Amino acid sequence: MSGAFTKSMARNIFYGGTVFFFLLFLALSFDTHSQLPKRDMRADITPQVAEGKKLWEVNNCIGCHTLMGEGAYFAPELGNVYKRRGPDFIKAWIAAQPTKEPGRRKMPDFNFSDEQLDAIVAFLKYVDSINDANWPPNDEG
Ligand code: HEC
Repeated sequence: MSGAFTKSMARNIFYGGTVFFFLLFLALSFDTHSQLPKRDMRADITPQVAEGKKLWEVNNCIGCHTLMGEGAYFAPELGNVYKRRGPDFIKAWIAAQPTKEPGRRKMPDFNFSDEQLDAIVAFLKYVDSINDANWPPNDEG
């Protein structure tokens, strides 16, 4: 065989490469989907967690905060706030808004009931338990 690179060799590399990387893509997709239940802790989603998520959405907390790095950069990251601050602080903090200190960024008063505050805490606790490989690297976002 001469050293020339023929058309059929190029075609074989193209088809072979396509099949190889398509199979690799399928294998990695399968692996990701089999890892997800262990990482996203979906078994821990209770009705209270779901209620907390709903309150999180309708009150647009993400409009100021981030959750696992996603959201707005006006206020601290809350994906890890359960570990950083604990449930009592979170409830007391939300109920005590807005702060009176001049010059500090303000969070609105949402007038949540005790039950709603518990649901938000349950949601933030759930989010904190997700294995997000410690993202974001900076604790407060
Ligand atoms: C208008 C913007 C805004 C919205 C909307 C908002 N927050 Fe905040 N939040 C802030 C700011 C600003 C701070 C930090 C204030 C400070 O340090 O004085 C904060 C702080 C917090 C903290 C304490 C974080 C820490 O690291 O100590 C929690 C918990 C919190 N917010 C929860 C919520 C929840 C839950 C919602 C939705 C129901 C929400 N926030 C909606 C602006 C907002």
